[in-house]
Amino acid sequence: MPRSKAVGKHVVLIGAGRMGSAMAAGWLRDPASAGIASLDLVEPNPAESVARLAARKSVRLNPKPSIADVVVLAVKPQQIAATAPAIAPWTGPETLIVSILAGVTISRLSELLGVSRIVRAMPNTPGSIGAGVTAFSLSSACSDAESAIAVQFLQPLGRVIGPLDERKMDAVTAVSGSGPAYVFLLTEALAAAGRSMGLDSETAEALAVETVVGGGKLLAEGGAPSDLRKAVTSPGGTTAAALDVLMGQGGLPELMRRAVEAATKRGAELSRDS
Ligand SMILES: NC(=O)c1ccc[n+]([C@@H]2O[C@H](COP(=O)([O-])OP(=O)(O)OC[C@H]3O[C@@H](n4cnc5c(N)ncnc54)[C@H](OP(=O)(O)O)[C@@H]3O)[C@@H](O)[C@H]2O)c1
Repeated sequence: MPRSKAVGKHVVLIGAGRMGSAMAAGWLRDPASAGIASLDLVEPNPAESVARLAARKSVRLNPKPSIADVVVLAVKPQQIAATAPAIAPWTGPETLIVSILAGVTISRLSELLGVSRIVRAMPNTPGSIGAGVTAFSLSSACSDAESAIAVQFLQPLGRVIGPLDERKMDAVTAVSGSGPAYVFLLTEALAAAGRSMGLDSETAEALAVETVVGGGKLLAEGGAPSDLRKAVTSPGGTTAAALDVLMGQGGLPELMRRAVEAATKRGAELSRDS
């Protein structure tokens, strides 16, 4: 099949766990616009939802391997070395690899799989419900057409950003890959602060959770975060009193910079060891 052809690809997904099955379900909502003619799912312990996907026309579960146009990798990073021999029969010289394995570099994938066209993507947890953000990098052998294919295949996880220089991927991991945990911590801390001001646990948690969800929805409608913040901050008011604490010396901006720096360094160490 010509490399630039936008439709009719033979695609295999290796690892139909949380993220893999979210991608497959997205592709199968409209296989033609995802450019899929046939989809093979390789998964040792398929969940019921995966078995249901495999009941559809042009989808097979754990079939005999044949060379694919696109191989999407969604096993755990620590499973890739052991899985590599089983991936080899799915790949030929023209095969495009799209990997969402956190911290596994393009050169490591190339070494393990013996292929040159590789997309390294970094999604995040909300991707499992289609509300994530995924950044990606390309190996030098990839064309613009392959970049477009990567976007098409990653879109079910949410917004797609790239291609980026692979050297930025540790920072991406530190901001958006680990970022949902920072938001969850912020929610926990807000609820705990509410309890310390005399609210009961249930009320404090509901107020904190709905505030973060609602704030997220306002952000999703557009507008710069700093403009939204200023819009709810009256001079001399309650929000201003809180922000004086949060934005003072050693406050949230400084803490966040240090946290993201620590995550970026750790990402680089883990990629080196993978
Ligand atoms: N979840 C996130 O928020 C997130 C965020 C960023 C990046 N990622 C990346 O996404 C990838 C998948 O994560 P996940 O959360 O979806 O993990 P997961 O739910 O554990 O999915 C991985 C799946 O691969 C299967 N598998 C194991 N060995 C296999 C083999 N040889 N052939 C085919 N399938 C095999 C696993 O089966 P068993 O369970 O039986 O081993 C499991 O169902 C990871 O590499 C991770 O780094 C995830």
